[in-house]
Amino acid sequence: MLTLAVLISGGGSNLRALLEETRHPDFPARVVVVGADRDAQGLFHAEDFDIPSFAVPYSSYETREQWGEALIEQLARWNADVVVLSGLMRLLPRNVLDRFAPHIINTHPAYLPEFPGAHAVRDALAAGATETGASVIVVDGGVDSGPVLRRERVAIPAGATEAELHDAIKLVERRLLSEVLVDIATEKIRLEEYRA
Ligand code: GAR
Repeated sequence: MLTLAVLISGGGSNLRALLEETRHPDFPARVVVVGADRDAQGLFHAEDFDIPSFAVPYSSYETREQWGEALIEQLARWNADVVVLSGLMRLLPRNVLDRFAPHIINTHPAYLPEFPGAHAVRDALAAGATETGASVIVVDGGVDSGPVLRRERVAIPAGATEAELHDAIKLVERRLLSEVLVDIATEKIRLEEYRA
């Protein structure tokens, strides 16, 4: 069974979908812990599913590396096979990458390398694009720049608001993440091959 540590910053709707999915006996992965870089609203999903959770508030540390050390300390307790960034809106510092990469994956609401960064959905709308997408990548030191494991196009309906489009993209993100996790669990994807 593949074990997962999931990191969030916000509402955690994708986390909740993952918790639902991983509850099925046939699904080959389980969430063992949920963490956040702030007092994230979405941590309550972990509680709902009786999954342990922690917050390592970025604002409590003087440097990125110190925050990273605290995050490493929390994550190391769980020894998860994969760290899933599910709406973690923060670049991981080098010490965290050194410790866990390439076993860190991230979901992103765009067809990477198009529209990286924190406002991917807004940026796609502002660019007047007619389609965007969803991606699951291996995390490296850049902003949404790691190798793409899965991505899929999502059409942008005329007049769609940012929230409507983001909701539609999240449905695809959730499916792609599930597919990637199955592939990792069944060794169709070997994250070790992405070691820098
Ligand atoms: C998701 O769309 C996720 O891909 C995105 O934040 C959203 C979190 O939603 N992450 C990024 O944009 C990272 N660059 P949620 O809190 O409702 O799950």
